[in-house]
Amino acid sequence: MSSDSASAVKNIIIIGGGIIGCTTALYLASHPRFAGASATVTLIEASKQGIAQGASGKAGGLVAKWAYPKELVNVSFQEHVRLANEYNGTDRWGWRFVNCGSWEGRGEPFAQSGTGVGAGGKRKSLEKTLGLDPDATSKSRKSTGLPDDLNWVKPELTESYSPMAAAGATAQVHPYLFTKSMMELAQEKGVNYISGKVTSINVDQSGGPHVTGVTYTPNESGADEPQTLPATHVILAAGAWSPKIVSSLPIVGTRAHSITIVPQSGTTIAPYVLFTEIALPSGVAPKGPRHVSPEIYARPTNEVYCCGPGDDSPVPETVDDVVVDQEACESIREHVMSISAELRAGTVDRRQACFLPVVSVGGGPIVGPADTIAKGLIIATGHTCWGICNAPGTAKAVAELVMDGKIKCANLDKLRPSRFL
Ligand SMILES: Cc1cc2nc3c(=O)[nH]c(=O)nc-3n(C[C@H](O)[C@H](O)[C@H](O)COP(=O)(O)OP(=O)(O)OC[C@H]3O[C@@H](n4cnc5c(N)ncnc54)[C@H](O)[C@@H]3O)c2cc1C
Ligand SMILES: *[C@@H]1O[C@H](CO)[C@@H](O)[C@H](O)[C@H]1NC(C)=O
Ligand SMILES: *[C@@H]1O[C@H](CO)[C@@H](O)[C@H](O)[C@H]1NC(C)=O
Ligand SMILES: *[C@@H]1O[C@H](CO)[C@@H](O)[C@H](O)[C@H]1NC(C)=O
Repeated sequence: MSSDSASAVKNIIIIGGGIIGCTTALYLASHPRFAGASATVTLIEASKQGIAQGASGKAGGLVAKWAYPKELVNVSFQEHVRLANEYNGTDRWGWRFVNCGSWEGRGEPFAQSGTGVGAGGKRKSLEKTLGLDPDATSKSRKSTGLPDDLNWVKPELTESYSPMAAAGATAQVHPYLFTKSMMELAQEKGVNYISGKVTSINVDQSGGPHVTGVTYTPNESGADEPQTLPATHVILAAGAWSPKIVSSLPIVGTRAHSITIVPQSGTTIAPYVLFTEIALPSGVAPKGPRHVSPEIYARPTNEVYCCGPGDDSPVPETVDDVVVDQEACESIREHVMSISAELRAGTVDRRQACFLPVVSVGGGPIVGPADTIAKGLIIATGHTCWGICNAPGTAKAVAELVMDGKIKCANLDKLRPSRFL
């Protein structure tokens, strides 16, 4: 009997509880062949804090028709719409269409608060003195292209604003809530969850290499004996950690910092995502570069997410060991607050860092079978800056590959692991 025939019993292990692993778990469990109880799905996540502790919990969350690669985006965007409709994504994970534009201008000096926590009230009274006469505001809005409802950047600091895409081409999710929801829905449909760190994928060479399961170190106090779990299929979705398990994968990690800001109560932050180019005045971030480009995401969950540039800090042993450089977070805070009184009056909530999985030779992600290493091994990683957007398309393709024996929803030949392995 062929081990990859569509009807054989399948024991499927997913390595990694980021957005790719968790969304794939839901698509596998939603596949018609899963309902017939001819398959088991087990997701193993290394973080002691649970799922979505890496990039998937700390990303911006744009879902865009103009993302890349197109063959994945075409499936993913419509799947995001379907998931949001089917599972109440608006309430559950903050799904909404959003305005998105590039904003260019200058920052202005402002009173520093030190930690940014708890000083909102004081700064608010300071801001009142900076109000502009509304006529001047509307004039400068027109000439810069700044939309009338974009109420949280200063018109007088704006040089230009241009929308990045037509209305309806850009949406957003709260990536942590999305990933958590995917896993909860998958577990409701019968997916198993193990808290543990996979140390190897086990391969039997007899009759051609094929996977037999994984070895992992469970996260249970007193149980540091390695365990093995048998499998017919192993899906590697370990993000920037993937090459620690399959070393021939050309994946590197780029660290990126981000913060979230909770606006002062009563402040409404209009739904915009801004890709900024800010010329900093002297006095703001005196030691850093003079031109910076943080991304700023208004979210429906009463928070604003802001992220800065990447760096090449090495990928640590696990996601729990990622080091947050407080100065990097402080820079992001100063940069975004230099263009917005509304952000200045808010309170910094999270200061965090994560690793983006990047294909070092370009052309990510890597999605498909890795038969040259072992039959039954499937790679789903290297999504660079579009893993939130492209998770549903990846999940659909991988679920088809495992359950039906081939990818039907798109032609993903360009993404095949055999390019590298
Ligand atoms: C600042 C920033 C902003 C971003 N904004 C966007 C955006 O707006 N839109 C968008 O589409 N994308 C965005 N991204 C990209 C997106 O975050 C990533 O592409 C995506 O999260 C990758 O998901 P993943 O599941 O592959 O990896 P991860 O989220 O890193 O998940 C991998 C998981 O595998 C686990 N793991 C690793 N090794 C093991 C092991 N040995 N055993 C068990 N588990 C293991 C890890 O602990 C981790 O939980 C952004 C990224 C960054 C950094
Ligand atoms: C991992 O183990 C620790 C200690 O026993 C526990 O506090 C934690 O909740 C566990 N994590 C998960 C995700 O189960
Ligand atoms: C993606 O969809 C667009 C619009 O439907 C289509 O023009 C394009 O050819 C598709 N691209 C790929 C690579 O499938
Ligand atoms: C979605 O969830 C919200 C609250 O979580 C609830 O009020 C609403 O009725 C739900 N909508 C649907 C269609 O289930």
